[in-house]
Amino acid sequence: MIMHLTDPADLVAHALKTFGADCAIAFSGAEDVVVLEYAKQSGLPFSVFTLDTGRLHAETYRYLDRVERHYGLRIEVLFPEAAAVEALVKAKGLFSFRTDGHQECCDIRKVAPLRRHLGTLKAWITGQRKDQGATRTALPLVQTDPAFRGLGGGELMKFNPLAEQSSDQVWTVIRALDLPFNELHERGFISIGCEPCTRPTLPNQHEREGRWWWEDPGHKECGLHSGNKR
Ligand code: ADX
Ligand code: SF4
Repeated sequence: MIMHLTDPADLVAHALKTFGADCAIAFSGAEDVVVLEYAKQSGLPFSVFTLDTGRLHAETYRYLDRVERHYGLRIEVLFPEAAAVEALVKAKGLFSFRTDGHQECCDIRKVAPLRRHLGTLKAWITGQRKDQGATRTALPLVQTDPAFRGLGGGELMKFNPLAEQSSDQVWTVIRALDLPFNELHERGFISIGCEPCTRPTLPNQHEREGRWWWEDPGHKECGLHSGNKR
């Protein structure tokens, strides 16, 4: 029904118009600010959430604050369940992901809070792009969420309006419209996640090499987008 909409701004407007308050934008605190910009341009009301894992960079917290002020909105900050984080850290320490892989920590700090929130929605909008890596090359603009259920256990639509955009195109928009960006981008960071699991990339390295660099490129999904896994 909506596959003819390939323009990212049109697709964001379509999602907001169709699902209204049952739709929310997942904002990571990086280049996906462009999605918020398209939402603003639509003139429709929209809501934004972010998953605070407790391990974000100080720069990312400051950036979230700047984005709130720029758009005159409150970003809903979702936290993990304290007891689950405490149990993990008690059992395995603060850096278990280095030896055990990132899945367990991501499940507790990101995926569980996301699942809880998506269970209140009928649709969500992400800033994922195909060019972000091996797990995203077949990313559709619109899909039925392959991993999560929505309101009342029903179907959940997932919009990826930037799927067909390159990093270059996204940054052209950020610069042209003078959008706020995370100051870490000025220090060689491209893809930004949690502080211990993100590092700057060198010239000609793929952006995803800065995330979970000790793991295999085919497994670099943390569960937010687990349907992308090969
Ligand atoms: S991740 O799964 O590897 O961490 P990535 O950083 O590429 O994801 O971001 C892809 C999209 O996932 C973002 O554009 C955003 O929509 C969503 N996302 C990622 N991290 C978060 C977060 N901490 N809070 C909310 N949404 C997020
Ligand atoms: Fe934990 Fe790293 Fe996943 Fe953040 S990215 S939730 S610190 S494993």
